Amino acid sequence: MKKLENEAKRVLLKNWKDGFSVPCANLYPFQWKWDSGFIAIGFAHFDMDKAEKEIATLLAAQWDNGFIPHIVFHTESDTYFPGPDFHQSELHPQSSKTYKSTGMTQPPVTGFVLEEMYNISTNKTATLAYINSMIDKVYHNHTYFYENRDPNNEGLVYIYHNWESGTDNSPIWDDIFATMNPPHYEFKRRDTTHVDASERPTNREYDHYLHIINIAKEHNYSDEKIAELSPFLVQDPLFNTMLIKSNEALINLYKLIGGNVDKIAQLTQWNTKAVHSMNTKLYDKDLKVYVHYDLRNEKPIPFITSSSFSPIFANIATTPEQVKGLVDVMLDKFGGEDMYLCASFDPTNELFNPKKYWRGPVWVNLNWMLYRGLRKYGYNEVADRVKNDTLEIVEKSGFYEYFDARKSVHLTDKAGYGGGDFSWTAALLIDLLQNKI
Ligand code: GLC
Repeated sequence: MKKLENEAKRVLLKNWKDGFSVPCANLYPFQWKWDSGFIAIGFAHFDMDKAEKEIATLLAAQWDNGFIPHIVFHTESDTYFPGPDFHQSELHPQSSKTYKSTGMTQPPVTGFVLEEMYNISTNKTATLAYINSMIDKVYHNHTYFYENRDPNNEGLVYIYHNWESGTDNSPIWDDIFATMNPPHYEFKRRDTTHVDASERPTNREYDHYLHIINIAKEHNYSDEKIAELSPFLVQDPLFNTMLIKSNEALINLYKLIGGNVDKIAQLTQWNTKAVHSMNTKLYDKDLKVYVHYDLRNEKPIPFITSSSFSPIFANIATTPEQVKGLVDVMLDKFGGEDMYLCASFDPTNELFNPKKYWRGPVWVNLNWMLYRGLRKYGYNEVADRVKNDTLEIVEKSGFYEYFDARKSVHLTDKAGYGGGDFSWTAALLIDLLQNKI
């Protein structure tokens, strides 16, 4: 395992670009928001300075309204589409004047990442001083979410683009895309020059992705207009779990820092409401898991994905029966004999595709969250299975972006997919090996 950990460090150091990390050379040549958070957790174990810089660089690209973009385009690159010229973040009056970025965001991991860094740190005083210099930016980001993305005042924020979810091409979005009829765009895909097309979204899916951005751009990325007009408006259980977890982390960190009573009260209030709505609106009693809600078309999306289990990461499930229900569904549908935990999409559903990105493969960041959640609720055996499965697939195939969930495939074929030497796979593997949680 020491060898694997050294390999993971090599991957992180290779992808480090003096102030931030790329998720994967060529395929993703800029800084991505939630990747940055997971990467910082990995670095915190052996190079706290880089972990701190990673987050500081991301937060330096924050907009004046508190928004943190999903990609920050620090450098020029022609290996990625759509780049800064397509996204045109400068259309928004409060966007960063220093950094070009996208006009959409990604799951709000930064709060809980700061707390992880504190927990890992061997120099708590220095790390807390660093956190003190960053934390208000993260708080501002949470204020942005609740003030701009919760039109019904439910404590649940929406995403307006599938890329905001982080789970880009999940079947969850299929029915929403079916309500749209985007034009056929002329563009040159870059991702499929790095990765086999069978492992990536289709061109038609890209038409939908670009169309939603174009609608937002027509209105200079105005949140109000997006809420009114975007064909894609979803309350995502994973995204909201991350926000709740980060609220909780900010409460803990503000308490360590001292003072900040009003902020702690506000964060507590947000979380009380959010947890309630997660358990009423996003919890499906029949399926016994959390589901996405299509806010534009006002209906739940009754698919089971790895995001459906993610609320255990943030103590959202309240009763033991509820937690048991989640774990039972996970084992029953995702945990068959030939299956590594945890596929990104329900393997018993006909839309499951074991090779295609978020339509089936195992992702290490989701496994990391599920592992933490299962441990927290005392499901140690299942937690260990998730952890050991993660270590096994990485050891067998390398630091891939995602992996086939079918064990038998790993015995005979290449079973790591997407980009290789992928940063968060490496970073979270280090954490799984080092952190005695
Ligand atoms: C893909 C993933 C997304 C990730 C990005 C960079 O788009 O779906 O979650 O942030 O790659 O790694």
